[in-house]
Amino acid sequence: MCREIFLLSFISVLGVANSEEKSKEEYRVYDETTPQHVQDFYRVNHAAQTVDFVLKKEQEYLPLRKQRMGIWDAIGIFDTLIDESDPDLSLPQRYHLFQTAEALRRDGHPRWLILTGFIHDLGKLLTAYGEPQWAVVGDTFPVGCAYSDKNVFPHYFDENPDSQNPLYQTQLGIYSEGCGLANVHMSWGHDEYLYQVVKNYLPIEAQYIIRYHSFYPAHLHGAYSYLMNEQDKKMVAWLELFRNYDLYSKSEEKLDLDALMPYYEDLVAEFFPPLLDW
Ligand SMILES: [Fe+2]
Ligand SMILES: [Fe+2]
Repeated sequence: MCREIFLLSFISVLGVANSEEKSKEEYRVYDETTPQHVQDFYRVNHAAQTVDFVLKKEQEYLPLRKQRMGIWDAIGIFDTLIDESDPDLSLPQRYHLFQTAEALRRDGHPRWLILTGFIHDLGKLLTAYGEPQWAVVGDTFPVGCAYSDKNVFPHYFDENPDSQNPLYQTQLGIYSEGCGLANVHMSWGHDEYLYQVVKNYLPIEAQYIIRYHSFYPAHLHGAYSYLMNEQDKKMVAWLELFRNYDLYSKSEEKLDLDALMPYYEDLVAEFFPPLLDW
């Protein structure tokens, strides 16, 4: 199936996702009705993700040197991990991996994209290294330049020390127009970490999905386009497509994971070696 057809077919997923239970508008609601723990999450995340913090975490984790292990070892910690930034899912993250991948599979997407859905959040393994959730999950945003009001709860940036640094508060900040997202320091979290782990094994579209799927201000609202180069702009369509599966497949339905395992064991083995650097 050609890529254009995939891009069009994302419309069908809108009907896949529990339409009888929850409408699209009921996902990602960030206002005074948002659960207090999610609001508290973003208050801390926006205050603490500074340029200095991000550079420190990049130095700590990149290049990868924590351990060598397989994809299934990483999935092991997802039995108990719950994402505190997520207002739409309270099941352990293991279910989210299967729900996302199964929604892609039902719509006939290629194996690399189903695999991308299956592994896209494995960077949340950072919590196992002791990172607090505010340094792992939630939407991401560029640091070192002005904050877009398309970020959720943008007023919480007032508490970030970088908001007082004039160098960081022009539209471009420390970057140049069209410099490309690869040259932009994003708030530290699971996207960048997993991208570094898997980039050598997946097509460029999958790399983008993994690296920027939490960059909602850009792929949902079109913010920060002045930092993108031509390749980034082309890849936004894949982020939009993926978003529909990542978001609207979330439900409290518990899939029969044991029955699904053989398919996913084959899929992981098709793309990844037994051990990877993390
Ligand atoms: Fe994610
Ligand atoms: Fe996700």
